[in-house]
Amino acid sequence: MTARDQLDRPLHPWLKRLFGRLLGVSLFTKILVANGAVVALGAVAGTYLTAEHVKASPHGTHYEMMALMGGAGLALSLALNALVLRAAFAPLALLERTARRVIAGDLDARVRLGPVRDPHTEQLAKTVNAMLESLQVHTRQLEEYSVRLRELSDRVLLAQEEERLRLSRELHDETGQELSTLLLGLRLFRDAAGAPQPDLPALRAQAAQLAELARSTLDGVRVLALDLRPRMLDDLGLATALRAYVDEWSARTSVPVTYSTQPDGGPPLPVLPPTTEIALYRMVQEALVNVAKHAAASAVRVSLTTVDGALVVEVQDNGRGMTLPKSASDQAAAGHAGPSGPQAREAPDAPDAPDAPDAPDAASGLSAGIGLFGAQERISLVGGRLAIESAPGGGTTVRAIVPLPDHAPTSAA
Ligand SMILES: Nc1ncnc2c1ncn2[C@@H]1O[C@H](COP(=O)(O)OP(=O)(O)O)[C@@H](O)[C@H]1O
Ligand SMILES: [Mg+2]
Repeated sequence: MTARDQLDRPLHPWLKRLFGRLLGVSLFTKILVANGAVVALGAVAGTYLTAEHVKASPHGTHYEMMALMGGAGLALSLALNALVLRAAFAPLALLERTARRVIAGDLDARVRLGPVRDPHTEQLAKTVNAMLESLQVHTRQLEEYSVRLRELSDRVLLAQEEERLRLSRELHDETGQELSTLLLGLRLFRDAAGAPQPDLPALRAQAAQLAELARSTLDGVRVLALDLRPRMLDDLGLATALRAYVDEWSARTSVPVTYSTQPDGGPPLPVLPPTTEIALYRMVQEALVNVAKHAAASAVRVSLTTVDGALVVEVQDNGRGMTLPKSASDQAAAGHAGPSGPQAREAPDAPDAPDAPDAPDAASGLSAGIGLFGAQERISLVGGRLAIESAPGGGTTVRAIVPLPDHAPTSAA
């Protein structure tokens, strides 16, 4: 142990506190005390020295003494003020250095004040540090979000490519095949019809077969077209297009769907901008595809209602449900709900207990699928938000809330 350590040890705590107190007074007090000290020192030393000087040479005018006193007082005052101001403004230089480090990208930089501190600069340093702390947290969140966004956009591109592949395969293998068969059939028909004595009943049967083939090809093309873009949406509006889709989905999956628009007797749904309509349509489509794929539900409810100047579109199933991330921020990070997204909780008004035969014991978790994320992005792009409520065994509700345009003209729903 060095001599310095020995000295430091007993004195250290209370001396430090005392110095801290003294050095921590405000800039105003520091300057006041420093100048007071200079004046007091000047007065005492000046009086003493003058008295001594007068004693030594009682008959002089003592100009040299006045000059000496004045000069020493001024020098001392300037030096002390400079020292005090320098020490008091040091934290500002420190703040500036910290700000430069942050600008250069060092988000771990913090203002660390020395022992000489002014309550105001200390407060400023604390506030700056708190600001940097929150900046760091937000930056980290943003980085995580952008990584996730990049992953998702990769997956979106992949999904788009897969969808194109599916369409191309469907057009080639199904529609193309059927059209080839139709072409062949028509050639045979032409040859048979061109024979010297055509067999009219056989020709009629052949024509009926070809017509049937053309009709089924047309059906396939229609389904494909509906998948790509619901024309009904442009022609008949959201409520009717959704009803058609819901009916078709229910017939295909054999899951009964209750579809409702507005409570009975309510005003008709307002006309929405086309981008909003397509976003809502795709959201319902995605939610129903999810019900078919993941929920094992025995009943589904789809509803469109206007509440407080907003249109609420809800798809509710009584299936196996899923585990949602605990906090809303998790959900936002996972891209599955807006800032006011729901917590994991039981969906209100859920239909009675699910009786799906193939529902496994464990409900699925909200995995990093892109379906719901895509729906959420779409809805938020049109100024709305998507909320998901679900609990294992408690069904799932996907709800989009979009603001209604002011004074929108109304249309029959
Ligand atoms: N209605 C639902 N019932 C139960 N689980 C669901 C339901 N909807 C979504 N999920 C769960 O949430 C996950 C994410 O859904 P989604 O984003 O559409 O992706 P994907 O359908 O491609 O898996 C699904 O994988 C599934 O586990
Ligand atoms: Mg999906």
